[in-house]
Amino acid sequence: EKVVLAYSGGLDTSVIIPWLKENYECEIIAACIDVGQGEELKYIKDKALASGASKVYIEDVKEEFVKDYIFPTLKAGAVYEGKYLLGTSMARPLIAKKLVEIAHKEGAKAIAHGATGKGNDQVRFEVSIHALDPSIKIIAPWRIWDLKSREDEIDYAKKKGIPIPVTKEKIYSVDNNLWHVSHEGGDLEDPWNEPKSDLYNIITPPDKAPDKPEYVLIEFEKGIPVKVNGKALEPVKLIEELNVIAGRNGVGIADIVENRLVGMKSRGVYETPAGTLLHAAHKELEYLVLDKETMRFKDLVSQKYADLVYNGLWFSSLKAALDAFVEETQKNVTGVVRLKLYKGNVINAGAKSPYSLYNEEFVTFGKDEVYNQKDAEGFINLFGLSLKIKALMEMERKDM
Ligand code: ARG
Ligand code: SIN
Repeated sequence: EKVVLAYSGGLDTSVIIPWLKENYECEIIAACIDVGQGEELKYIKDKALASGASKVYIEDVKEEFVKDYIFPTLKAGAVYEGKYLLGTSMARPLIAKKLVEIAHKEGAKAIAHGATGKGNDQVRFEVSIHALDPSIKIIAPWRIWDLKSREDEIDYAKKKGIPIPVTKEKIYSVDNNLWHVSHEGGDLEDPWNEPKSDLYNIITPPDKAPDKPEYVLIEFEKGIPVKVNGKALEPVKLIEELNVIAGRNGVGIADIVENRLVGMKSRGVYETPAGTLLHAAHKELEYLVLDKETMRFKDLVSQKYADLVYNGLWFSSLKAALDAFVEETQKNVTGVVRLKLYKGNVINAGAKSPYSLYNEEFVTFGKDEVYNQKDAEGFINLFGLSLKIKALMEMERKDM
């Protein structure tokens, strides 16, 4: 029997290997899906083998992550509870998809993951896996074993003679990919605690950012970012470049107490530098090109879309239907946005589009060609009629 394990190289998933072998007498295929977690991947293959895996897959899916997960979510304007740009939520379904592919290739009937029984990630992994192959068995050790702490895990690793991955003392629960870094746990569990300034991995704390503002130009085609400062960039490069630009200006920190799907609130601090710029710029362009009713409706869709992504329903029919709506709205979201970055702030500094619905000639007080001021009188009479009728009724009642 083979089990495919979602492997990260950290202590949790390293300990899972001997635990699975002991409890399921199976062969472990470690699968490390590279969504841009960076350095962590360097020695991962050796680590997995040393921990007892019989085979290791390392798959670079960064481009697919950006094109098929990040960009659709950006176009949808999906932001969870007004702040969280969904970095972890979007990556899970893609990782699940790759795990299922590997399971099929290997003839494995089970997939194991290292998410805890208290979080969102377990839901995202399992709902996505079963959306793609309902016959696959899931093994979630955190919901089964009685290891309760990092110390328990280290003891177990020692007993099993597997190398303990040398990472610096783990204070926070961190998830890192091309789009974001999330921090949870430790002193952050008290929402009164301000994040320590050495918490940040990719953002310069705003108070240490340069004293001079920096401008950045972002160009979109049909809702997709294609150029930065006039230079055409491939999707992965584009995100990397914007991460650097925003990061050095302290831009992209979100600190939120969020509602988990499993019912509890949790506190998270997120670093999403490129994402923060892209959402801001994309929105500015939509202000120019979307008509009012489409914009209103799209706001509703954005919120629903964010909930679906957060709740692990990436592969649902509703999500696909919303994508079709969003796609229709993006036909004219083409143009350039200029942003000014200054010590953690993103300030709009200009936007233009060949499809802009904004027309200086129409709003100006000069000429009257599309707009006849006399028409406004009748419009106002009808627009306010129901209020007038109510006021008339109230006057009559007073007289009675
Ligand atoms: N709270 C965020 C979310 O649910 C981040 C989760 C981070 N996951 C992790 N295993 N560290 O999307
Ligand atoms: C976990 O519980 O594994 C991480 C946090 C989450 O999934 O929400």
